Amino acid sequence: MNYESNKSLQSLNTFGIDIKAESFVEVRSVDELQNVLSKNRKTIFILGGGSNLLLTQKVKGLVIHNSIFGKKVERDFPKSIYVSAGGGENWHQFVLWCIKKGWGGIENLSLIPGRVGASPIQNIGAYGVELKDVFHKLEAVELATGDIHTFRKKDCQFGYRESIFKKKLKDKYCIIKVYFKLSKNPKLNLNYGSIKQSLEAKKIKNPTIKDVSQVVIEIRSTKLPDPIELGNSGSFFKNPEISKRQFKLVQKSYPHIVFYHLENDKIKIPAGWLIEQCGWKGRRVGNTGSHAKQALVLVNYGNATGKEILRLSIKIINSVEKKFGIKLKLEVNVL
Ligand code: EPU
Repeated sequence: MNYESNKSLQSLNTFGIDIKAESFVEVRSVDELQNVLSKNRKTIFILGGGSNLLLTQKVKGLVIHNSIFGKKVERDFPKSIYVSAGGGENWHQFVLWCIKKGWGGIENLSLIPGRVGASPIQNIGAYGVELKDVFHKLEAVELATGDIHTFRKKDCQFGYRESIFKKKLKDKYCIIKVYFKLSKNPKLNLNYGSIKQSLEAKKIKNPTIKDVSQVVIEIRSTKLPDPIELGNSGSFFKNPEISKRQFKLVQKSYPHIVFYHLENDKIKIPAGWLIEQCGWKGRRVGNTGSHAKQALVLVNYGNATGKEILRLSIKIINSVEKKFGIKLKLEVNVL
């Protein structure tokens, strides 16, 4: 293992922010991880794909880059299959591997940047599917002790872009392996408006999981900037959930407001709509700005600093709150 001091994390975060880590090491196995933990006395930060991260200052302590790979069939049944993937596996490559084998359930989650180990932390979701829908269990190493613990679905306390690993257990574990239950006879989830329309436009009547994945890739590519070309971390904010009472008040003033009813009796408003209404969509401020095709994605036009992007996000939060009385919350992890 190679410890590096003052390592630039620019190529390891999708915003492309040039921030250094005091100390850095890449681990390729559970043994290596446990070895590093047993000798370390510094504050630890686990870095996966860096796709949901805004770096605003030099990272003190030790950054451990999780590169624990491996994909495996755990149990094979006539209708379903249990597969596992190492925390360092690239999420999209894992999705493509499952699709190639004919195992369905995660096709709607195609092209999400990042690594498998981060997927449960954020309970990643897109086009009507969330990670929790296919999640079986995970294994994680406790940073303080090096012990391996297993977390079942109920232990993870999944919510909308939430889990116990963003709350009580934040920065306490490194996820080394995630187990998924996939289907050999998948029930496709086409309810998200643009998926159906795109399939119809292609005249696909009986779509396969591969067709759905392809359509999701196309939709994402038209709306979301490729981090290789334009630094970003996907949605910067969460879509706010408000009470029906508050919603009625807002709707009175803004009858064209876009909204979705939730099962918990609340109303979800797309943050992108709120931000666009405040005039931020496509607006550039210095080296950063809100993306022209999807307002809730903040981008780095080149040399933006994390602080600059954070300052813009605060301006956006304030103007949305002033206009609508709704306080946006960050989806990204700010360090
Ligand atoms: N909208 C606007 N202006 C915009 C963007 C959106 O008015 O600039 C409105 C439109 O009415 C649109 C609606 O918002 O129909 C929904 O937009 P979209 O389908 O793009 O989805 P989203 O709610 O903005 C969420 C996720 C995305 C995920 C998509 C598709 C969050 C915070 N974001 O975005 O996830 O890909 O749905 O399922 O929940 C991510 O987490 O990084 C991410 C990209």
